[in-house]
Parts: sequence; C-alpha cells; structure tokens
Amino acid sequence: MGKNALHCRVFLSHLECTACGLRHEWHHLQNLCTACHKPLFAIYDLDAAGRMFKREALARREKSLWRYRELLPLPPSVEPVSLGEGGTPLLRAQKFNGDIDLWIKDESLNPTQSFKARGMSVAVSMAKYLGATKLAVPSAGNAGGALAAYAARAGLEAYIFMPRDTPRANIVECSEVSAHVTLIDGLITDCGAEIGRRKTKEGWFDMSTLKEPYRVEGKKTLGYELAEQCDWQLPDVILYPTGGGTGLIGMWKAFDEMEALGWIGKKRPRMFCVQAAGCAPIVRAFENGNSTAAEFSEAHTCASGLRVPKAIGDFLILKILRQSNGGAVAVDDEEMIRVTREVGSSEGLFVAPEGAACFTALKSLCHSGKIASGERVVIFNTGSGIKYLACYDS
Ligand SMILES: Cc1ncc(COP(=O)(O)O)c(C=O)c1O
Ligand SMILES: [Zn+2]
Repeated sequence: MGKNALHCRVFLSHLECTACGLRHEWHHLQNLCTACHKPLFAIYDLDAAGRMFKREALARREKSLWRYRELLPLPPSVEPVSLGEGGTPLLRAQKFNGDIDLWIKDESLNPTQSFKARGMSVAVSMAKYLGATKLAVPSAGNAGGALAAYAARAGLEAYIFMPRDTPRANIVECSEVSAHVTLIDGLITDCGAEIGRRKTKEGWFDMSTLKEPYRVEGKKTLGYELAEQCDWQLPDVILYPTGGGTGLIGMWKAFDEMEALGWIGKKRPRMFCVQAAGCAPIVRAFENGNSTAAEFSEAHTCASGLRVPKAIGDFLILKILRQSNGGAVAVDDEEMIRVTREVGSSEGLFVAPEGAACFTALKSLCHSGKIASGERVVIFNTGSGIKYLACYDS
C-alpha cells in the first residue's frame, strides 16, 4: 500500500442525480442519470466523515489533492493514479490589483500544466478501479492532455477527440504519451457526438465533462484547497473561466460539503463566470434570465478551453451564479491577449488566455462597481500560456 492509500473508511454513500434526485449506487461504471440523463453527483456520509476527519489533521498530510482523501470517492485501500496534482500556490497579486485584495490560484503548476489534472486524477483512478480499460474524451485541449497522461500512468488506453484547430501543444502532448488522437472538423460538441456514436461498439468509457461523476470530485478540491489556504475564510469574490463549468460546480459542492463538515460557515463568495465574447452561452443565458443555456452558434475564441458552445451542466452553473449573487462576464479575445502581457509584467506569470480573461473581467467588474475596493477576490489561472504560443505570434 502506498503513502496515499490512507487507513480510512470510504465515506462515499451513493450517486444522486443533480436534476431529478434519483439515487444510483456507485459500485459500477456509469455515466448520466438512468432516468433523465443529467449529471450525477457523489454523495458522502458527511456526518460520519466530520466525526472522524478534522481539518487540523490536514497539516500533517502531503501537498496533493489526495490530502482530502476521506472526501474523495476512491476506497482507501486503492492506490490513486497520481502525477502530483493539486497543492498549487495561492499568490497575492503584486501590482495588478489596484485597490482590490487580489489573489491568484495558479493552476498551471499541475501535471500537464492545467487544472484538468485534478479531475482526471480522480476520474481515471475511479474508472480503473471500476474496471474500465479504454477511456474516451472530447476535449478543447487541456482535458485531452490530462486524460492522456493519467491513462498512460494507469496503464489504460486513451482515445482523445479534439477540434482540428486545437493548440498544437495539446495534440503533441497526447500523442507523446501514446494516446489515440482523432482530430475532428468541428467543435468539442461534434467530438462528443462522435464518441457517443462509437463508444458502445468500441468499448470506450466516456470521460466527458460531467458525463461521469468523478472529474467534478477532483475539481472540487479547488474549493477545499482555497478554503484551507485562506484559513477557512472564503473570499468575497471568485472569477472562474467557464467552459463546461466543472470547476465552478465542483467548488460550490465543496463549499456545501465543508459547511456540513463544520469546517466553514455560511458565507459564500460571489461566483462570476468568465467566458469569451465569441462563445458566451452562459453569459447570454444569465443576462436573459434563463435557467438553461442555448447552444452558441459559430463559437470562436483563441481561449480554446472556453470554446464550449453547449454545456451539460448549464443549469447547475446558472443556479450557482444566481444563488451566490454573482454574475457572468464576456471578454474579447484582443483584450485577453493584451492583458496577458500586463499580468506577465506585473505578476511574473505567463497565464493561459482563459486565466487572462478573468483579469480583464476583474477590470470591468471593478469599473461597474460590482466589486468594491478592499474586497478579497480570487482569480483562477487554470492553465499555462506556454501551450498557446500561436495566439502570441503576431
Ligand atoms: C485552461 C482552461 N481553462 C478553463 C477551462 C474551462 O474549464 P471548465 O470546463 O471546467 O469550465 C478549460 C477547459 O478546457 C481550460 O483548458
Ligand atoms: Zn435524473
């Protein structure tokens, strides 16, 4: 048994549909709710977990997302598929902040240089444990790179479907860890449809965002880690670059779990979703007062992770934005690229365009008075600019 396989009981109780509430047992591989085809959430016995696992115990554990092991689904006797994910720095902004108390959670330090590693470490661990051998994912880039790496580490096959114009770095990194890469003339939704058509015949397990229950469990550790790094006082505002929305949804789940565990109080940050103006289905739905988001046609942006014209978790994202009294902001590509250099020179970080979008959104939210001076704001830089060199060619 390795050092990550802690001696603790599994607190995962069952899976529950996020839309109709139908209960599913977790002991076999599954994707969406069998009744209404919406995402499933992992539900834990938090009373028992809270009694056995105190937040003070964390100080003695390794700097990895697996330090929250009791709140993760993998049984304690099973070794996780890990490449050292999580435990990323929360940096105080030096100059970009103006009169805001600004912090940057730098997720580019994860394996494969993006926060997608968190979701894939947990989801690949569970898929392997439950017997999957071939894993398939549609990806805008970084999720594919992460799945490819974790599948290789697990000794499983990875089938990655990406739009043909995905950044070259993402395509090469998948091939170099022996994934099967298929480039599609279309968007991530077309990639997902191709997997949907072929997966039964090919024996692939579908690892699409929110179409299996455990990527969001890995992503929720963003919320646990943030609370721990903020000494269990959540910030006033979170800005999150939103494609499929797993990180936003996962963090919100983590906040509820931590409150049930007695680790944090009732206060929640105002959650802001940041999208590209060329692909802003959630922003449009938020502004129109809708509870789901229609597909965004002719989606285009250099922030490939934000080029998600339709998200299966749209209703969950919109509910969180409204419940938290937050909002949704669309950012032009030119602004993202321009602000990247500003963040680079003021903070020493070469952020991904998705992360850069949040810095631009911060300016407009401060300008419009939606963020007040002195408020504590956390921006998620979800990836590294180094994978997007073509965006900076001119
Ligand atoms: C760097 C980066 N940021 C943000 C996102 C959007 O993440 P999510 O799908 O969790 O909303 C992606 C997705 O590909 C990404 O690669
Ligand atoms: Zn359902």
